[in-house]
Amino acid sequence: MSTIGELLTAGTARLRASGSESARLDAELLLGWAIGAERTAVIAHPDAPVGADAAANFEAGLVRREAGEPVAYVRGYKEFHGLAFAVDARALIPRPETELLVSEAEREVAHRLTSAPRPDGTPNLRVVDVGTGSGAIAIALASLLRKRRMLPEVSMRALDCSHDALELARENAVGHAVADVITFTQSDLLPSTEPPFDLILANLPYIPSGDIDGLPVAASFEPRLALDGGPDGLTIVRLLLNALPGALLPDGVALLEIGFDQGPAVEAAVAALPGEWRCSVLPDLAGHPRLARVERAAASGAGSGAAGAGRPGVAGRR
Ligand SMILES: C[S@@+](CC[C@H](N)C(=O)[O-])C[C@H]1O[C@@H](n2cnc3c(N)ncnc32)[C@H](O)[C@@H]1O
Repeated sequence: MSTIGELLTAGTARLRASGSESARLDAELLLGWAIGAERTAVIAHPDAPVGADAAANFEAGLVRREAGEPVAYVRGYKEFHGLAFAVDARALIPRPETELLVSEAEREVAHRLTSAPRPDGTPNLRVVDVGTGSGAIAIALASLLRKRRMLPEVSMRALDCSHDALELARENAVGHAVADVITFTQSDLLPSTEPPFDLILANLPYIPSGDIDGLPVAASFEPRLALDGGPDGLTIVRLLLNALPGALLPDGVALLEIGFDQGPAVEAAVAALPGEWRCSVLPDLAGHPRLARVERAAASGAGSGAAGAGRPGVAGRR
């Protein structure tokens, strides 16, 4: 019977040879999955013996990972904002950089609900996650708001054009006990019939089409619809930006994840919107410009000042 340490050493070598840039981490995660333990337990007990069934599971996981499949699809879940999301080929695997969008959205909702009295009869805040995929953004936000007892004052929608992704998102919402507070709808971006929103959240595809074939092979297991943003990566983001004048309430805010080099192009697209608009781009934890915050220049919303970590810029119509 092999030990944890022996399997990890051999598995790491195989994954490194297959081209994984995170071979040791991948092997630890896969072995933890195979034996039904946390990665920390795997690291802490190198001398523990591994039974035949667990070793066979590990072998099957290694073979899939050697073929390029993401570890998250092999394990069937991915941690995001402290929650475990079921993931499979129906939707993009949620990325750590998207946690910034959730944190900003939570801050924005909390500010709106606590900065001024809300007399009885005040309508709920309307929040929408456009291109929800696995549901990560909407579900993580709903879970945070539930802990803060703010959910009763918020109406949440989650939209995606992919039926498969929505199915997965609904499953995750059930798993995290927020299926009753998020309405999931299949839709091409935002239907023009929707009343305007206080908060529009979106992590839409933003990879330029020509860059997709050059992504790590793991990305080829994810839906192309979730990645391909057209010739410069911003085709779908621009469509959403163009819808903002009708889709955002006068003091509403849109938070959009973008590529690290897309800030100037997004600011230019915002500057071309009818009326006066403000666009600031906030950096992610790695310091890369990542989150575009878009609102009318006259709006005095929560974040206009508080989001001080970003690179503020005002994009008025020329
Ligand atoms: C980059 S993935 C993000 C998924 C999820 N929001 C996340 O952060 O993990 C983009 C999502 O947008 C969806 N999408 C692409 N084009 C769309 C469109 N025109 N209307 C609605 N959803 C769209 C895709 O199906 C995919 O689920």
